[in-house]
Amino acid sequence: MTYYITTPIYYVNAEPHIGHAYSTVVADALAWFHRLQGTETRFQTGTDEHGEKILDAARDAGLPVKEFVDRISAQFRRNWDAMGITYDSYVRTTSPEHGKVVQEILAQVYASGDIYFGEYGGFYCYGCEAFYLERDLVEGRCPDHKVEPTFIKEENYFFRMSKYQDWLIDYIETHPDWIRPERYKNEVLAFLREPLEDLCISRPRERMGWGIPLPFDDRFVTYVWFDALINYLSGLGYPDAPEFARFWPGAQHLIAKDILKPHGIYWPTMLKGMGLEPFQHLNVHGYWQMAQGKMSKSLGNVVDPGSLVGRYGLDQVRYFFLREMVFGLDAQFSEAALTTRINADLANDLGNLFARSLGMAFKYRQGIVPAPGTSEPMDQEIVAAAGHAAAEFLQHFPALEFGRALAPLWEFIGRLNRYIVASAPWELAKRPEAASRLDTVLYHLLEGLRQIAALLRPVMPGSALKMSQQLGLGPALWDRPLPQVLQWGRLRPGSSLNKGPALFPRIEND
Ligand code: MSP
Repeated sequence: MTYYITTPIYYVNAEPHIGHAYSTVVADALAWFHRLQGTETRFQTGTDEHGEKILDAARDAGLPVKEFVDRISAQFRRNWDAMGITYDSYVRTTSPEHGKVVQEILAQVYASGDIYFGEYGGFYCYGCEAFYLERDLVEGRCPDHKVEPTFIKEENYFFRMSKYQDWLIDYIETHPDWIRPERYKNEVLAFLREPLEDLCISRPRERMGWGIPLPFDDRFVTYVWFDALINYLSGLGYPDAPEFARFWPGAQHLIAKDILKPHGIYWPTMLKGMGLEPFQHLNVHGYWQMAQGKMSKSLGNVVDPGSLVGRYGLDQVRYFFLREMVFGLDAQFSEAALTTRINADLANDLGNLFARSLGMAFKYRQGIVPAPGTSEPMDQEIVAAAGHAAAEFLQHFPALEFGRALAPLWEFIGRLNRYIVASAPWELAKRPEAASRLDTVLYHLLEGLRQIAALLRPVMPGSALKMSQQLGLGPALWDRPLPQVLQWGRLRPGSSLNKGPALFPRIEND
């Protein structure tokens, strides 16, 4: 089975912020993990460039819309490149390739009878670019934008979404972790308890022309969500490219809770209408909240990922993202919390362990990995603890339970730090008859660190590589699938270690 991970394609009406960076980093870490497992992996991100929101933003910026979307899309891309994000494809919905796929799909679904023409009157929120039913409004206002929607009556094309309601309910119930974590599955099932309406999939060109023309009626353009969701297929070269056949069966989408309805309801029914198999999982995370509540331009609390990474370090931010947020729940963002994680987990726990262990190997053994002698119970405990940490990591990481993957690894780090105290290598070094005991202790420390480096690559790719370089291995550490890399004892006695700078400098508080 292949692994195909996608992020949402981000709207180009505003610059990238840490919310976008979080989803992209999570997808990158998952892509790394699966590549290291030896699975054929593809990772896609991109930008969503049609619709009214974008048109308005271009107008506000005083730029022709094409020039505007080119500019912001490039900014997203530069941002991911600067963060070393290892995406394989970057879809832009204004590209001719994407437009062609959207039109082919529309023509096919239209021919099958699942798209019809009709008149509809409804409450329209311009912010959401969506119609609301009266029952979905909160005190007569859009639940998201808190503005009174406009009643619009117009002719449009509709996708027979209602036809697939029962199928969808059944699919969700028979595939209990398809939408995960569970709270979001329940949320989708709750939507589906009410009768599903058909989906309005066009906008009259005279009202809003920035979109892909319907292939069967060019007085209309495609509704932005019908267009955007198809990026997950167009980026694979659907329908003819071999990548589509290879990767679609391994598809996993990653989104936040704000776009659950389009991904949990529109998208699966669209796929059903096209005669395609559903994706493997819809993975839904929560929101980063600021002290003042939501991150927003008007509150002036939008955090730019580039400047955060510049000040704290890329791997430090990646680690914080994965360790601090329970996947699926909201989390509080603050630089104080980030600093605490860096100083406690990275500088103190891991950084010190690494520096002390290598320092002793240089001081007592000239930077050569010693051959371990007879193992004592305390050494055997280290081997068992490494195995336990690795098993937990390999189980929880692909299920997006990053905290449950990382916490046992940090318990192992803590155990190695205590092992140093308990075995007191500096005392052993004073006694020539304890030379073999010192070899054993140093070997267990270095091999334990090799295990840690191996597992941390998806989380902190640069730091894990630095660790591996100092351990004398470099990229060769990952020359086979992770479970084999993790066999205890692969660090070769007699090999040379390398000196290097501290992994994680402490952040001094002002
Ligand atoms: N263009 C649509 C998605 C189409 S996908 C076919 C869109 N774009 S968006 O720019 O608004 O991005 C929304 C996504 O950005 C969220 O689903 C999430 O991945 C990320 N986030 C935006 N703000 C966020 C937080 N405050 N916290 C965490 N993630 C956030 O919706």
